[in-house]
Amino acid sequence: KRVAVIFGGRSGEHQVSLNSAASVIGALDKERYEIIPVAITPEGKWFAGIEPAQLLAGEDPEQLGQRVVLLADPTYGGLAPVGDGCVRVEQLCPIDVAFPVLHGTFGEDGTVQGLLELANIPYVGAGVMASAVGMDKVMMKTVFARHGLPQVRFCHFLRRDWERDPEAVLDRVEQLGYPVFVKPANLGSSVGISKVRNREELREAIDLAAGYDRKIIVEEFADVREVEVSVLGNDDPMASLPGEIIPLNEFYDYEAKYVEGKSRLVIPAQLPGETMLELQKLAIRAFKALDCAGLARVDFFLRRDNGAVLINEINTIPGFTRTSMYPKMWEVTGIPYQDLLDRLIELALE
Ligand code: DAL
Ligand code: MG
Repeated sequence: KRVAVIFGGRSGEHQVSLNSAASVIGALDKERYEIIPVAITPEGKWFAGIEPAQLLAGEDPEQLGQRVVLLADPTYGGLAPVGDGCVRVEQLCPIDVAFPVLHGTFGEDGTVQGLLELANIPYVGAGVMASAVGMDKVMMKTVFARHGLPQVRFCHFLRRDWERDPEAVLDRVEQLGYPVFVKPANLGSSVGISKVRNREELREAIDLAAGYDRKIIVEEFADVREVEVSVLGNDDPMASLPGEIIPLNEFYDYEAKYVEGKSRLVIPAQLPGETMLELQKLAIRAFKALDCAGLARVDFFLRRDNGAVLINEINTIPGFTRTSMYPKMWEVTGIPYQDLLDRLIELALE
C-alpha cells in the first residue's frame, strides 16, 4: 500500500504536526507500506519527499523536495508534480491511503478531508463533517448538548458583536460568573486563550481572542482535574483507559502541552473504577455524537468539588508523538504504537 503521510500545514500547530509526523513515519512498517511524506509549508505549499525531521532542522523545503498538488479529481486522484505552472498528469503518483497528521485549522477541520474525498482517496480519521464540527468549539458543544453530554456552561458571540456593543457582550458573559476561560472558537493548542477574573481582564482577553477568530467562546471555570480518553474504531469504536494530565502551570496551556517537563501524564488515571467506566462510555458517546471515524481523543474535566465528569472537547487528530497522550493511552491499554498505526490504516480502508 502506498501511504501518503501529510504533515505541517497552515495552522498554529505546524510545529506540533512535524513532531507527530516524525514519530508516525518513523514507526510505520516499511515492509508493509510505501511511505510518501507530504509536507505542507506554513504558507500552504505542498512538497513530496521531505521528511518532517528536515523541516524541524530548519531546512528549506524549496531546496529539498518536489512541489506537488493533490489532484481533486477521482480519475487522477493522487499527487502530481508542479513545474512552471504546469501540472504533469503523466507523472502522477497514485495514493492508496492518506494519513493526515495535521493539527488545527486547514487540516484537522475537514478542509484536507474534503480534498481527499474529491480525489476519492481513503484517509485515516474523521470525515469532513465530524472534523469541521470538532474544530468549532461552539458547534461541537451544541452537538454535545443535544446528545445530553455533560459540559461546563458557556456562551459565545462574534467579533462583530464585540466591536458593536462591548458593554452588552460583557454583561452577557458575566452571567457565567468569574473566573471564566475566553477562547477563539476555532483554534487548537490553547492559542489565544485566557483565564480571567474580572471585567477588566475580560475585555483584554476578548480583544486577544478576537484577534485570532471571528467567533469567541467563553466557558465557566471550574476547579478540575484534566482527564483524557482515546477512542479507536469506526462504527463500533472502543475506548482506552483514561489518562490524567497534571499540569505544572496554572492551566494546561500551549507551553504545558508542548514543552517537555511542563506537565506530567499519569496513565491510567488514578480514579475509582466506576469513574473510569463512565469516562469511557462518555468518550464513545461523544465520538458517536459527532459521527467520528478512526480516532479521536476526548478531553474531560473532573470537578474537584462534586466529582462531576464534564466533557471539554474532542480532538479528531490528536498529538501523535510517541509520548503523546493518544498513543500512550493505547499503549497502556494494550495496543503498541506501531500496531495502532496499522489499525488506523485498516480502519481508513474499511
Ligand atoms: N491539538 C493537539 C495536537 C492535541 O490536541 O493533541
Ligand atoms: Mg485540544
